[in-house]
Amino acid sequence: MTASSVAAEYNWLFWILVVVCGVVSTGIAFVVLYSAWYFRRKRDNELPPPSISNSVKMEAAWTLIPLFLFMGMFAWGAKLYFDIERPPDDAEQIYVVAKQWMWKTQRPDGIREINELHVPVGQSVKLLMISQDVVHSFYVPAFRIKQDVLPGRYTSIWFRAIKPGKYHLFCAEYCGTNHSQMIGWIYAMEQPQYQAWLQQGAAEGSLASDGEKLFHQGGCANCHHFDGHGPGPDLRGLYGTTVELADGTTTVADDVYIRRKLMDPRATTVRGFDKNVMPNFSKLVTEEDAIQLIAYIRSLGPAPTAPSSIGTAPDSYGKQPGIAYPGAGPIVNHTPGMQ
Ligand code: CUA
Repeated sequence: MTASSVAAEYNWLFWILVVVCGVVSTGIAFVVLYSAWYFRRKRDNELPPPSISNSVKMEAAWTLIPLFLFMGMFAWGAKLYFDIERPPDDAEQIYVVAKQWMWKTQRPDGIREINELHVPVGQSVKLLMISQDVVHSFYVPAFRIKQDVLPGRYTSIWFRAIKPGKYHLFCAEYCGTNHSQMIGWIYAMEQPQYQAWLQQGAAEGSLASDGEKLFHQGGCANCHHFDGHGPGPDLRGLYGTTVELADGTTTVADDVYIRRKLMDPRATTVRGFDKNVMPNFSKLVTEEDAIQLIAYIRSLGPAPTAPSSIGTAPDSYGKQPGIAYPGAGPIVNHTPGMQ
């Protein structure tokens, strides 16, 4: 079954590899065996045949033809690999959390699914994935995609379904007793059906609004004041910007950075916050919580000139007018010297 934008090309490359390698290797094996039989010593007193001088043309042919053939396949494979690994810019991002033994998916509008994922046909979907426990592997054969899902680190994969249908999702990495039951379904739907499905799947709240609740329940707001005068940096406008660190280096405040700040805050220290009093939340915050918190921080627009009131976050990220995305400049809302 082929149901994604890369699947047909993938099949072509696979079968050409199989045919070319099959023909070349059986051809070589045949010539070796045939020559051993044909040129065998036929009589006891037979002398060795006169030696043949080499033919440059022939040697060049059997070196260069296979070289171009195989380098061509390599180049094609590399191109396809990049196509599979690099999501298009318009890809919709969906988060996947793997845990023993289920797949949980969350999308920005808040719709959550377990062992299921509904996607529209023709829309590129980027999955940002992490594991709550051990290594799993997200494998959808019909889409020709497979990606390990690791604890403590985001990995991603993307696909664009081209045919409506119900496709198997497997865990392809042995992950404990019920590994074989860690399976699910991807439903690729035409736009009208997909919109209808979205309607009935009424979400309780968006990722960002869930993240906002966690932000206040977890006490984050106690330090990260929205006036720039708290013991921690003002997080408005942080997402996607370049952060200056105490050691003089810089980093981009993306999902990876913000998650790490939650789970391993001592790993980096923001310049101007040298005491780094950020507590470690790795025991308190699940990967799903982290995704919601990141969505909340992402939903916070850039800091306005006047202090804003807490709790007015937009309920959907990615559709924020005026939000600062990559390249918007460093966060400078903190006062140097403060802890
Ligand atoms: Cu999860 Cu195997």
